[in-house]
Amino acid sequence: MIILGLETSCDETSAAVLQNGKVLSNVVSSQCCHTGFGGVVPELASREHERLIVAITDAALGEANITKNDLDLIAATAGPGLIGAVMVGLSFAQSMAWALRIPFVPVNHIEAHMFSPFIEAGATKGVPEEPFISLTVSGGHTLLSIIGTDLSRRIIGRTLDDAAGEAFDKTGKMLGLSYPAGPEIDQLAKQGNPSFHRFPRALTAQSQTSKSYQGNYDFSFSGLKTSVLTWLQKQSPAYIRHHKTDIAASIQDAIVSVLTEKTVAAALRHQINSVAIAGGVSANSALRAAMEKECSRHGIRLHLPGPVYSTDNAAMIAALAELKISRGMRPERQYGTAPFAGMPS
Ligand code: KG4
Ligand code: ZN
Repeated sequence: MIILGLETSCDETSAAVLQNGKVLSNVVSSQCCHTGFGGVVPELASREHERLIVAITDAALGEANITKNDLDLIAATAGPGLIGAVMVGLSFAQSMAWALRIPFVPVNHIEAHMFSPFIEAGATKGVPEEPFISLTVSGGHTLLSIIGTDLSRRIIGRTLDDAAGEAFDKTGKMLGLSYPAGPEIDQLAKQGNPSFHRFPRALTAQSQTSKSYQGNYDFSFSGLKTSVLTWLQKQSPAYIRHHKTDIAASIQDAIVSVLTEKTVAAALRHQINSVAIAGGVSANSALRAAMEKECSRHGIRLHLPGPVYSTDNAAMIAALAELKISRGMRPERQYGTAPFAGMPS
């Protein structure tokens, strides 16, 4: 089966071709039109997707060495995401499927992230034959879930305010970094001291005088944001410049330690031996290192996506469509944006 996947939920225009679980191409174009705005401008994102979608799709087909007539199915992100951005990929995918008389499958973007650690092992073959804990950390979501062997999802924790990626991006902005600040904080932190300043770790056992937060898998990053802001306001610009790498490392440490502590605690408490980390923040080198260390200490198997599959990409969209179809399931429609348009034969 040859699947074309399309992803346009935020500021990456991406198309990928998968053949029987193997990625033949995965073309990702990151939009730069938002530079200077401090975040993604929804209208600009939609227009940029519209400008690029045909060229990116052609590039993915070309790189896979196939034509559109070789396709058996088209899958596209149907949400969550910026509504205008989602609609560009979704309507393009549905029209193309209709014109080619092949099925169209809508895919949930976050669920696609959850299964992205298994793409390299072959979309349908890599998924563990045991339940696993999924930590999904992106610019808009922070979720801790238990994924069953039937691919069912039970969310056991989520952020009460900002997502982990947002915490990187917003505190990075305070440090004068451009959007998205996560990758730059990651780089700066490599030369910094994570113990330079202790920023708060909310909703953890260490953050409370009692043990009442043990077994609480929710997250909160808004206090960290306020704490970074008020702390920076008390420092001189020269001091901040001089200690930029230390501050970046300290912010990163606050985020990474909470994510690691809660994920490993959830695995131990639920006696689950596999953990998979996904979403843009899973590209973070300190998070990967901390998870590797803690999981190996507790004998937990850790599944990490290759860096290209951490951030938004269309291979994960095609891979989830293939995984669900191989299990006889119909991928979910979400947020009402995706009329299921399986074409009649
Ligand atoms: O999954 P993603 O590409 O898009 C969404 O679905 O949101 O995630 C984007 C987020 C941004 O907040 C970005 O700063 C963060 O992932 N990110 C990182 C790193 N690479 C991307 N955060 C920390 N370290 C990184 N290396
Ligand atoms: Zn994403």
